[in-house]
Parts: sequence; C-alpha cells; structure tokens
Amino acid sequence: MTSPATVTSNSLPVGLFEKRMQAAMDSLVLLYNTLYDHHPHQKAGLDKILQTIRRAFDLRSSSLRNRDIEKLSTEPEHWFLSNKMCGMSLYVDRFCGNIGNLIHKLDYFEKLGVNFLHLMPVFESPEGESDGGYAVSDFRKVDKRFGSLKDLEVLEEEMRRRNMYLMLDIVLNHTSHRHEWAEKAKKGEAGFQDYFYFFNDRTIPDEYERAMPEIFPEAAPGNFSWVAECNKWVMSVFHNYQWDLNYTNPLVLAEMLDNIFFYANLGVDILRIDAPAFIWKQAGTSCQNLPQAHTLLQLIKICVGVATPGMALLGEAIVAPAEIMKYFGTGSMQAKECDFAYNATQMALQWDALATGDIRVMMAEQEQLLKKPYGTSWITYTRCHDDIGLGYNDSSISQAGYDPYQHRKYLKEYYSGAYPGSPARGALFAVNEKTGDARISGSLASLCGLEYALQINDETAISQAIDKILLMQAQSFFIGGVPMLFYGDESAHINDYSYQQDDGKSYDNRWMHRPVYDWNKQEKILQSGTAENRVFTGTQKLIAIRSKLPVVADKKNLTWITPHNQHVAGFLRAWENDRIYCFFNFSGQPQQLTWYAFKENGMKPARLYDHWGEKHYDVRNDNEYLLLPPYAFVIMEPVQ
Ligand code: GLC
Repeated sequence: MTSPATVTSNSLPVGLFEKRMQAAMDSLVLLYNTLYDHHPHQKAGLDKILQTIRRAFDLRSSSLRNRDIEKLSTEPEHWFLSNKMCGMSLYVDRFCGNIGNLIHKLDYFEKLGVNFLHLMPVFESPEGESDGGYAVSDFRKVDKRFGSLKDLEVLEEEMRRRNMYLMLDIVLNHTSHRHEWAEKAKKGEAGFQDYFYFFNDRTIPDEYERAMPEIFPEAAPGNFSWVAECNKWVMSVFHNYQWDLNYTNPLVLAEMLDNIFFYANLGVDILRIDAPAFIWKQAGTSCQNLPQAHTLLQLIKICVGVATPGMALLGEAIVAPAEIMKYFGTGSMQAKECDFAYNATQMALQWDALATGDIRVMMAEQEQLLKKPYGTSWITYTRCHDDIGLGYNDSSISQAGYDPYQHRKYLKEYYSGAYPGSPARGALFAVNEKTGDARISGSLASLCGLEYALQINDETAISQAIDKILLMQAQSFFIGGVPMLFYGDESAHINDYSYQQDDGKSYDNRWMHRPVYDWNKQEKILQSGTAENRVFTGTQKLIAIRSKLPVVADKKNLTWITPHNQHVAGFLRAWENDRIYCFFNFSGQPQQLTWYAFKENGMKPARLYDHWGEKHYDVRNDNEYLLLPPYAFVIMEPVQ
C-alpha cells in the first residue's frame, strides 16, 4: 500500500492541493483497497491514480482553480442547488451542425432562459456503430463531424464568459470496439484483453447470462459478442460494438480517471457519468447496482474533490426507486457519491398520471423519493434522448387500485397510440418477447398529442396538447432539482421519422425523438398563437418564474399536500418565510380543490398570487373550492 507521504509535502504549511489530498487520503485508500487489495496490480494502480490526481491539479488552469474556490465558497449551499440554473440537452449535429455554430446559438438559450448545456457525446465514435456517441473510440478527440477540440474550448470559454454551465458525458462503462484498447485486445494483447471481459468459450458467459437482463433485446440480444479476430467472447451489455470495461482491473480505473480529469480541465461543470449502474460485474447477479459500483463512484468523487472540486457528478442511473437513492451514497458515505441523479421515477410517474388522469400511483412513490439526502439534487425532466421506462414499483400501482400488468399494458398502448382514442403518437422500444417488457419512445409534443392534433387540424386538440406539454414541464421545473429540457421540446418539435432512412439509426426508434432541428420554426415562435409560439413562450415564462423564486431551489424543502382530489397533485415548497404552493390537474376534466389544501400545513394565507396565471386569489372557506381547468396548474405565493 502506498503511504500518504508519497503525495504530500513534508513541509507545512501545505498548499491547497496537499491539504485536500491529506484530508482525502485515508478514505481514498480505504475505498481503493476494498476493491483491489488482492489484485496483482494493486500497488501500480494506486500509484497511477495518485499521480493522475496530482497531474490533473497541476494541469488545471488558474481560472478553473479560481472557479473551484468560488464554487466551494457557497458551501454548505452547493452552487448547483440554485434556482437560477436551467439546462438543455442536445445533439450538436442535429441541433445546429457543429460546435462552431453552437456559439452562435448561445443568444437563443439566453433568450429562453437556459444557462446550462448538456452536449450529447461529441468525442470520436464510429459512424453507424455509435449509439448516438455512446460508443467512444477516442475519449480525447472530438469527432470531426462536430468540429475540433479547439472549437469545444472556444465554446466553453464563451459560455463561461456568459455565466453558463457545461455538462459532458464520460462513457464509463464501455468503449467502442474500435477504441485503441479494444483493437489491441483483438490482436491478442493479454494486457488489453484484461481491460475488457474476454472469455475463451461460452461456459462463463452462459453462467452470467442466466442472471443478466438484456438492455436492447431487439437490436442487441444477449450480453456477449463473438470476436472473430481473436476467437473469443467479449462482454457487450449494450450493443455488440460497445465493449464493457473491466473495472476489476485497477489500471482501467486509473485510465478512465485520467479521462475524467481531461474533461474536468476542459471546464466541465457537471460530469454526466453514463450508465454507472453497470460498472461492476459478478456472475450470478444482474450485474447492475452492485455495491462495488458504488465504491467506484465514491472513489471517483473523492479524486475529483481533490483535484477539480468545482466539477459536480451526475450519475446516470436509470434504476428502480429503491436503488436510485444509493447513488447519492449511503451510511457514512451519504451525500458523498453522486451530486446528482436523474429523477427518472418522477418523470415516468408524470407520464403515468397524464395517461390515467390519476395521481395516485405518483403519490404512492413519493415517500421513497423524499429520502434523497440534503446537499444532493435531481436532474428533473420530462423527456431526454432515451426512452421512458415504467420501472416504478408494482406495489405502488396496486396501492392505487390497479393491476400492475394491466396498468402498464394500458400505458404502453396509450403512448404508442394503439389504445382507442389515444392522441399520443409514440412507439414501443426494446420490446422483450420473453418477458413482455417494453419501454416508450416519442417526443414530448407527440406523446402529449400535438402531432395527432396538428394532423387532424383540430384547434381544441392542439390547445389541449399544449396545455399538457406545459403541465408536464411545470411539474418538473418546480419539484426541486435542476430542470433539463430536451432540445426541440421548447419549440414544439414533434417526432422526426427521418431516422428510418438511415441504416445506422433505423434499428433504434429512440431516434424519432431526437429531431434534426427545424430552424424555420423560429419564425413561428415569433408568430403569436402558433403552437411553437405558445410552447416557447410558456417554457420561457416557467423558467423566468423559477429563477425569481429561491424557495424552489432544491433544499430538501418539499412537502406533498394531501391529495384532496385524486386528479390534482400538489406540493408546498417552503424555506424560511417563503412559501410556494404548486397544484397540477392531470385530468382532462375541470377539477375542484378545497381551499383547505392551502391551510393544512400550519399556514393560513389570506391571499395568493398565481405566478403562472398572473392572478390574485382570496383564500376561501374549507368547504369552498379553487377550480382548475383541464390540465391546468398554479404556482401560488402567499401575498398581503
Ligand atoms: C445511457 C445513455 C444511452 C446509451 C447507454 C449506453 O443509458 O443515455 O443513450 O444507449 O447509456 O451507453
């Protein structure tokens, strides 16, 4: 074991790096040895990690170091818990061609109120075998389709000048089979075969398969691929061209940590750790959410905290509600793992409520979701580049009085448009014939009925679809966390079916909701009354309201209000003397809400101002009601 003395200076007072390193060293070594104590590369791996941390700090620019200090100075209120942060996730090429062009779109984001960009993977990835960039063949080279590393640096500088934040992905779980390590492994280099999970025959793969689910059962059945070049099997949980990295080998962790720091030193504010649930494998288990995966994440968090502490971590774990909480760290490591996780459960529950007009399943899951530790946060969203999985608990569905199988069947039929009368136009994704499971693809607008409404040219249906879009966005904006829009959703883009003509994409219907951005819509955005205008200005207004109200920042300060009406979800956000009441009518019928709902939490406001409707209300007696039109919502603040 390397002693802390190898990285710390003997002379005190120690510098910033040394202080941070000294403070972190015991936990770092402890966590490292939990995983690698008996590994033949134990010492080499640890030495490499310690050197990597030191080098990352040395290479960090003085402006980023200052920014680290600035960000840390807001503690204990983390900089990323601000109500003024609002994000958008986008594919650079589909949005505007390349990174160079994106600089000219920054005004557009500012106009909308977005100050945080998640660029979908821009590093080199083989065309046609790319999984939208999530099969990386070079972690340091920007794919020429998007421009160059220089372009990315220029963009980052300009974003920083405008006080905007940047998120990039580290695709931690796998590389492309065209990555240098994979190519060397194909040629038979044992050291690099050990970077992946290679097997001579099917014996061990078959053992693994017995307990491992399939992620893309249609496009990539099974979890192993045959590598003809070296006559071996390799683990490939996602597509056959995405090879799982072997983190039981500490050298892999050291290499990937170096890549993480490369992104940190580019100026990334939040690092999206792709698919962390999968990073540790063990035959006989599902190979997801294993305790060692958490240890790895905690280790990464500690290393980042020493060298590049201004970079927060988002764990992209789209897992069951009981599992997600563990990504924030548990026990003595609580709030010391990922700073963020996606609130995928809440996202899916909102789609559930929208399809049924009933909030009871959503309510049944909330106790669990409220367990998120203080100081960590959610990325809240309604749509992203991935499908919608209905992975919440059967028990919550039963508690609401539905049969779980029938209920999910209904949701899938509703959103794929198969259910009679459903206005949604999505599609089933990753249908597993063996288990009957399926997930849902489709854009926000199409799932809310806009595509169909435009097709039948029905004004009432168009208005209703827009109301649904804004209702969905509003709940995700005010529930706590950093809202992350998906590009195109702010301008009412419906499904884009052009992917069907592209062989590299046609096998994956998630591309229907990853549109080639239509900039002609800008004119319509300016034209009052169009769907584009109503969705854009509505989204803009929601962002503006949110950024005015510090109380809606995520301070673990949300209280659900008793569902006095099973169609209306409501919560109170409270901090010091500030209060905001939010109510959302998920049904297609007008609903009544007792005024008692505003009083049950001890306060008795006499008058309220609805920031969304820009209207004042006198709070009435308990036996009187606030009327909420179909799919309407209110964001109400007590006033004198
Ligand atoms: C994540 C990404 C998804 C990708 C997968 C494999 O879940 O969001 O798009 O297919 O990881 O990298």
